[in-house]
Amino acid sequence: MPDWVELERRCLACQKCALADTRTNVVFGKGPKNARIMFVGEGPGENEDLQGEPFVGRGGQLLDEMLSLIGLSREKNFYITNIVKCRPPKNRDPLNTEQDACIGYLREQMELLRPRVVVCLGRIAAMRIIKPDYRITREHGQWVERDGVSYTAIYHPAALLRDPSKKPDTFADLRAIRAKLREVCPEVYG
Ligand code: URA
Repeated sequence: MPDWVELERRCLACQKCALADTRTNVVFGKGPKNARIMFVGEGPGENEDLQGEPFVGRGGQLLDEMLSLIGLSREKNFYITNIVKCRPPKNRDPLNTEQDACIGYLREQMELLRPRVVVCLGRIAAMRIIKPDYRITREHGQWVERDGVSYTAIYHPAALLRDPSKKPDTFADLRAIRAKLREVCPEVYG
């Protein structure tokens, strides 16, 4: 898959914004290149920066556990990445200028993957991908269809760790994601 290789090579060498100066590793993304569903977070945290893989800290573990309940794993059938590929210092939100510098990589990842379902993890990703005034508390779990792709957002796993009372809403959203996959790409579940 030469285009993926070339894209990742460019991304790993990126110097488009100041996050390049403080990163340990670029966190490009992880998962099969034929996945039908893509998850998008906001940006790498400390563990991700150290390991070069998205969502590998406590939040990532929780996410993987929850997704396994609906038959999804990053080894087999979902792709996961972030809006910005380098860690913002002290885990602050990525600045708009940093998102603008980086978003081209996500666009190219989407063009190569051609997912049928895109799930934003948290408000920052939803504001960038679904709409600028996205309200996660009010709108999580709702679906937007655009050019044959179904978009939704769920709470960020870090928000679930901070406030476990949000978990039942997220389990309901995950069941809806499973139903959406069965509808638009049943091959995911064989
Ligand atoms: N939070 C994110 O948004 N992305 C990661 O990769 C890790 C934590």
